[in-house]
Amino acid sequence: MSKKPWAGRFTQPTDQFVEAFTASIDFDQRLYRYDIQGSIAHARMLARQGIIGDGEAQAIVDGLEAILADIEGGDFEFSVSLEDIHMNIEARLIERIGPVGGKLHTARSRNDQVALDIRLYLRDELNRIREYLDRLQEALLDQAESNLGVIMPGYTHLQTAQPVLFSHHLLAYYEMLRRDAGRFADLFKRLNVLPLGAGALAGTTFPIDREFVAEQLGFAGVTRNSLDSVSDRDFALEFCAAAAILMMHLSRFSEELILWSSADFDFITLSDAFCTGSSIMPQKKNPDVPELVRGKTGRVYGNLMGLLTVMKALPLAYNKDMQEDKEPLFDTLDTVTGCLKVFADMVAQLSVKADSMRQAAARGFSTATDVADYVVRKGVPFRDAHEIVGKTVRYCIEQGKDIPELSLAEFRRFSEHIDQDIYDYVTLEASINARRATGGTAREAVEREIALARRERAGRI
Ligand code: ARG
Repeated sequence: MSKKPWAGRFTQPTDQFVEAFTASIDFDQRLYRYDIQGSIAHARMLARQGIIGDGEAQAIVDGLEAILADIEGGDFEFSVSLEDIHMNIEARLIERIGPVGGKLHTARSRNDQVALDIRLYLRDELNRIREYLDRLQEALLDQAESNLGVIMPGYTHLQTAQPVLFSHHLLAYYEMLRRDAGRFADLFKRLNVLPLGAGALAGTTFPIDREFVAEQLGFAGVTRNSLDSVSDRDFALEFCAAAAILMMHLSRFSEELILWSSADFDFITLSDAFCTGSSIMPQKKNPDVPELVRGKTGRVYGNLMGLLTVMKALPLAYNKDMQEDKEPLFDTLDTVTGCLKVFADMVAQLSVKADSMRQAAARGFSTATDVADYVVRKGVPFRDAHEIVGKTVRYCIEQGKDIPELSLAEFRRFSEHIDQDIYDYVTLEASINARRATGGTAREAVEREIALARRERAGRI
């Protein structure tokens, strides 16, 4: 059994079950690179401040670099009796370079060390997530562009409401993801400050230079209260919250892809690469990927709730409870990354059944509002126009006709304000292209939005 760095005041060994129970090495080993990166910056600062010798710092840095290579080469055995990644690496360092390795932990505690490691790790992961988010946004824009002109029914209450461009519908998701990216960028600012230097909770008696460490590690600044530095996990919570909202968006998109790929809707085909079959029903092609993304939304919500609950009512400063921050955070990162990755490819490869969408858009009296707007433009108050068209629709239902199929005489049974030019307003294209203001579904408005998004992405705005 390895000797514990804190064993000094103990006379009896830790109970074996307790040792495993309290250890975090099984999951915090993924922080190894950041733990070493932080330690190297810390050692350099200690030497620069004359707290340890230059030669000592060099031996520590070399030792840490060798350990990094060992871990990456699979030549490092993580030990549960050394509890966590911090003590595993420190013990190995002392083993490698001798007692001088024990100087690394001067002016530092595992409490500020772990806060640093998580921040460094999350910072890198966030950059990766933003790349995946980017790819999905790109896939949406590409599909919106190549399917421009495809018409689908727009829904409210999942009842046919008004026709919209399929591209317009996709751009709605683009907007959601744009806000998600904004949330990540915003939390990044609060994440990107150095907590190291807080010590266990009260600061340190050594003449450290926190700004120097921050600069070496690429942080924009340093935290400003030692108690808060070691007890704050807002950055993890903010990430889990932003991730939960992102997953909510993906779950809505998933739901639509599932509906649209059903025989009943028949709007799109998902590539075979993203579906599986049934072991009993030979005709089946199941939309597993969107279903699973929809399902995984649950665990991301759960992780947010779990972490909020871990942090609830904890007295300042560090408490062991906070070791429970890692698994929900890691699981959220893995889940979100996986979902974004698979979604980007799936969206890029989906194919659209334009005729089927168009037929659906023509059903359900989707241009009824356009008739009402027409009558309003002739001077009729909207409420009366609504009533007129409501009766017209009822007539259509009775006659088994669609609105554009009514003769002028039939239209005029409901309002004498209707003239021959009504037929210019009740086609799907006319209905769509009349909604020209910014954010509307008219082709020209959608083209403007795509162009704006492209310019934004090229960093030209
Ligand atoms: N493994 C611990 C964690 O993840 C590191 C900090 C431990 N600090 C302590 N005083 N026990 O939270």
